[in-house]
Amino acid sequence: MSTQPTAREQWNSRLGFMLAALGSAVGLGNIWRFSYVAGESGGAAFLLIYLLCIAAIGIPILMAEFTIGRRAQQDVVGSFQSIAPGKPWVIGGFLGVASAFIILSFYGVVAGWSLYYFTQYLTGGPQPPAGGDYGDFFGQFHTATWFPLLWQFLFMFMVVAIVFVGVKKGIEKSNKILMPLLAILVLILAGYGMTLGGAGEALSFLFAPDWSALADPGIYLAALSQAFFSLSLGMGALITYGSYLSKKEKLPGAAVGVASMDSLFAIVAGLMIFPAVFTFGIAPDSGPGLVFVTLPQVFSDLNMGLIYGLLFFFLLTAAAVSSGVSLLEVAVAYFMRQMNWTRQKASVIIGTIIFFIGIPSSLGFGAWSGVTLIGGRDIQDSMDFLASYIFLPIGGLIIALFIGWGWKKSDALEASNFGDSLIGNIWIWILRIFAPAAIILVFLGSTGLLDLLF
Ligand code: PFF
Repeated sequence: MSTQPTAREQWNSRLGFMLAALGSAVGLGNIWRFSYVAGESGGAAFLLIYLLCIAAIGIPILMAEFTIGRRAQQDVVGSFQSIAPGKPWVIGGFLGVASAFIILSFYGVVAGWSLYYFTQYLTGGPQPPAGGDYGDFFGQFHTATWFPLLWQFLFMFMVVAIVFVGVKKGIEKSNKILMPLLAILVLILAGYGMTLGGAGEALSFLFAPDWSALADPGIYLAALSQAFFSLSLGMGALITYGSYLSKKEKLPGAAVGVASMDSLFAIVAGLMIFPAVFTFGIAPDSGPGLVFVTLPQVFSDLNMGLIYGLLFFFLLTAAAVSSGVSLLEVAVAYFMRQMNWTRQKASVIIGTIIFFIGIPSSLGFGAWSGVTLIGGRDIQDSMDFLASYIFLPIGGLIIALFIGWGWKKSDALEASNFGDSLIGNIWIWILRIFAPAAIILVFLGSTGLLDLLF
């Protein structure tokens, strides 16, 4: 069995822990990924299924991750090993570490774009090429070979620097300031969005479901994956963060708080982005470039748009850093224990490896744009697919089953602070039956296997 480090780091306070978990949850997923996936999946119908996934599956699994981590006081692999030694549950831990590598590799590419846009707003804002628009500007930038890699590298450097410094001084401090600021700015920009001509169309796109979209089985898996991605679920990021929480603190409440704030962020971000999409005649399903094309358009039309642009891309980058930190921390915590490395050594080595793994994702937009890996997807999209559509839901399934069946019920109830209450029992049964069944059904339905069975 694994050895426990003598003095494990801890959060300063419960609020610090909650903000760090929120910092992990709120990131590119809420603004960049949410808007383009919602845009591709038909808007309101997708949003509805997404919110259902958060409430019925996301929150119980979020609570499960906190419970496992706080009980085990270990990294994701060590947590499974110490609670259920010698059992196969630990596969969930290894999947988690693998997901951290994959997600951070492509996350760094997009976060690098955001960092570059921030620097553009420092010097007068992005300038579309003669006769072109912001779509052309974005196209020229992100399809280049070397330049985007520089920004990806700088982003990874910041993430490594924070993880290098440690839990309290690095992770906890940065989130306390940035999260509230980002919330305020997104609210202001959504308010401005509501004054644009396309606001009505945006509202009906986001809130008036086209029920026929529900007939497309793909939307369920898209919504489930987005829920996992956005809440940082299914790969042990929240097990790892929970492991730095002292046994004194209460868990329920923290889980609901983080999940509700995260969803609210995504919805308000939608209110900021989609009015612009419709006002400027951009296709909602234009893919991963969506925010990088729509928002500069908005800022260029705004009084003091340069300042808004500067603040927005600063905060988006900061939100990406805090999520990136939680991704790196999953792998770093594991390698520190497994290889007996110091935090400093682990963060530099793992961060460097992840940067290199991310290079193909960046090149896939330009020099390697002909390369398709999974089902016609480009490299970045394939990495996202592998992690978000497959590893995270399977990781979530293992986590749910682990608490539901692999752990003595009374023990799990005690570790979660629910005690033997009604809500605690509902939670256990969701993890035992409902969440696993829902995840499996969504998988079978979306891959067409369900049709084969019936
Ligand atoms: N939740 C983050 C976002 O929405 O941007 C991404 C993420 C972070 C996913 C950490 C998974 C994770 F473990």
